[in-house]
Amino acid sequence: MATEKIFIFDTTLRDGEQVPGCKLLKEQKMIIAEQLDVFGVDIIEAGFPISSPGDFEAVQAVAQIVKSATVCGLSRAVVKDIEVAAQALKGAVRPRIHTGIGTSDSHVRFKLNTTREDILYRAIAAVKLAKSFVDDVEFYAEDAGRTDNDFLARVCEAVIKAGATVLNIPDTTGYCLPHEYGEKMAYLKENVTGIHNVVLSTHCHNDLGMATANSIAGVENGARQVECTINGIGERAGNTALEEVVMILKQRFGHKYETSIQSTMLKGISLLVSETMGMTVQANKAIVGANAFAHSSGIHQDGVIKNRETYEIINPADVGVDQSSIVLTARSGRAALAYRFKELGHHLRKDELDVAYHHFLILADHQKEVVDVDLQKLFEQKIYAMV
Ligand code: KIV
Ligand code: ZN
Repeated sequence: MATEKIFIFDTTLRDGEQVPGCKLLKEQKMIIAEQLDVFGVDIIEAGFPISSPGDFEAVQAVAQIVKSATVCGLSRAVVKDIEVAAQALKGAVRPRIHTGIGTSDSHVRFKLNTTREDILYRAIAAVKLAKSFVDDVEFYAEDAGRTDNDFLARVCEAVIKAGATVLNIPDTTGYCLPHEYGEKMAYLKENVTGIHNVVLSTHCHNDLGMATANSIAGVENGARQVECTINGIGERAGNTALEEVVMILKQRFGHKYETSIQSTMLKGISLLVSETMGMTVQANKAIVGANAFAHSSGIHQDGVIKNRETYEIINPADVGVDQSSIVLTARSGRAALAYRFKELGHHLRKDELDVAYHHFLILADHQKEVVDVDLQKLFEQKIYAMV
C-alpha cells in the first residue's frame, strides 16, 4: 500500500518565538530557517510581519534565502496585516499567507465582541484579500478546539469557497482530548463541501500534555499537515513537538504515512534551537532530551547490553544521537560496570569485578554519577593493586 505524505509545518520561528525570552534576531532566524530547509520541513512559518519592523525584516530575509520549503507569514483577518505579510513574503519561491480569526464563542463574544455572522464575513474577506497576493492561503479558525462543530464547518466551507488552500484547526488552548480532536477532523471531512480539495492541518497546544496525541489523532482522521515546533516550544506549555510527531509517524505509522524530514538531523536541530533561544531542553524530553537514550538502573542496563531493543524502541542513530549511554549510578549493576570498564580497555575477571563493584557502590552512594575518570582511578587504586 502506498504511503501518504504528511506535511510538516514548522512554527518554531513564529509560535515558538512567542515564548518570553526566546525572541530571535533576524540573523538567528535566518540560520535556523536554513537548517529547517535542509532538514526537510515543508513549510516554515517565519514570523508575524505586522508585529514589529524587526519581524517584518526577518520574514523578508527568510523568504529570500529558503530554497525548497514554503515560507509562511502570519496575519490576523485584518487588511493591514495581510498587506504587510504579502509584502514581507515577496521574495519567497513559495509564499503562503496564514490568516484567520477566532471562532469559539469565547473569542467571538469576549475577545472580538461581535457575532458569528460578522466572523464569517471577516474570514471570507481576509482569505479573498490574501488570495489577491498569493495562491497559497492558509486559514486558521482560532480556538477551533472549543468551537462548536456546526459553526466551524460553516466557516471552513465559506473560506474554501473564498480560495483557502489549507485549513488550520487549532486547539489554541490545549483543551481537547485526542478522541475529541480526531472527531472534530472527521466531522469536518464529512460535513464540509470542498474539504477534499484542501489540506486539513493540526495545530495543537500542550496545556494538558496532549498536543502530540491530538496531532496524531488529527492525522488519523484526515489531517495531512501537522504544525509543530522544535523541542515543543511555544506559548504557555508549548506546541506539538516536531521530533515527537516525526518519530511517531516513522516508528508506528511507517506503513501508512511518510514525511520529508531527515530524522538524523533531529538532535542537531534541537541543540541549535535550544542554544539560540536559550531554552534548555528537559533531560527526560522524548527523542531529544539528554536522557532519552540513557540507561541507569541495573535491570535496564543489563537488558540493553544484551540487546539494545529490550529497552529502546528507537535506534539513537536514527535521530542523530551517537549511541545509547550506560550511566553509572548506585542503581547500576555488575554488567554495566564491567561494560564500562571494557569500554575503557579493562577486561576484568570475576574476582576483580567483585572488588571493583564493592568500591564502586561506596563511591556511587556519595555521588550522583560515576564517570570514566572515577573508574580509571578505581582501576588504578584497587584492581591494578590486585594483579
Ligand atoms: O494557537 C493558535 O491558534 C495559533 C494561531 C494564530 C494559528 O497560533
Ligand atoms: Zn498556536
